[in-house]
Amino acid sequence: MPAMSRGVLFTGGMRDWTATAEAYDRSFATLCDGAAARLLADLPGRDLLDVGCGTGRLAARAERAGRAVTALDADESMVESARGRLRGRVLRAALPDLPLPDASEDAISASFVLNHVDRPRAALAELRRVLRPGGRLAITVWPAGGASWSAMLGEVFEEAGAVLPPPERLSAEEDFDRSADGLAGLAREAQLEVRRACDLHWDWQVRPEDLWAGLDAGIATPGAVVRAQTPQVRARTREVFAARTAELSDLDGVMSFPVRAAYALGARPLDEEL
Ligand SMILES: C[S@@+](CC[C@H](N)C(=O)[O-])C[C@H]1O[C@@H](n2cnc3c(N)ncnc32)[C@H](O)[C@@H]1O
Repeated sequence: MPAMSRGVLFTGGMRDWTATAEAYDRSFATLCDGAAARLLADLPGRDLLDVGCGTGRLAARAERAGRAVTALDADESMVESARGRLRGRVLRAALPDLPLPDASEDAISASFVLNHVDRPRAALAELRRVLRPGGRLAITVWPAGGASWSAMLGEVFEEAGAVLPPPERLSAEEDFDRSADGLAGLAREAQLEVRRACDLHWDWQVRPEDLWAGLDAGIATPGAVVRAQTPQVRARTREVFAARTAELSDLDGVMSFPVRAAYALGARPLDEEL
């Protein structure tokens, strides 16, 4: 997996990458999608560059609103999936090296990507490089402190006797505070003006079978936990997950979890010399 992060979106060895993008789209893409409307509202204009586009849901929303979108992602399966969804250009490229000219973009979204890169400051400097003076950059990351869906999975893992792999962390010099203030600090370090820094809240509606598809494909930290188990413990985890999620599902078989994300909107100063 090139350029994939310590945040571990995907783990494991040989894989059907198409299946991975499909599993991501069924599961964690619907989680991330909750932030999309706010980012797009804060990035007005005709053109949009979506960095770390995943399967292209945010970019597709922008296209439906009549915008001209360029999307890019480090992962080949994501690029293929996004190409199937989008009319616009989809590039395979990885932060902190974007194949785009200096000062070429008016609006950039980078939703839940900075938490997956090894060098967040270098990534932000690169995003700033391609922004035009006056252009805006909207960024989200998952905040410290966990989430209710992840706490539920923690209980499932404990009951199933799953062994947790050691967490992967950035070095102290590279890491940043996983909060809206932390994002704003990173943006200021990158010489961006901070226009907004706040938490975003929404509810994530997901079916147990869709969430399991993401976990079974090794996606996100809990997916890495599932992948790290022996076949027996994995089967037990599946059973405990099925029982726990059945209790949480409504009559239509859907679970709902409150979600919080850290968000910052930065702008490249208008009056700077290029
Ligand atoms: C959690 S997903 C978010 C995807 C999408 N933005 C969304 O909201 O659904 C993170 C995405 O970032 C991509 N990614 C990870 N490291 C990257 C890098 N260095 N440069 C560009 N994309 C990267 C992954 O391949 C993945 O598609």
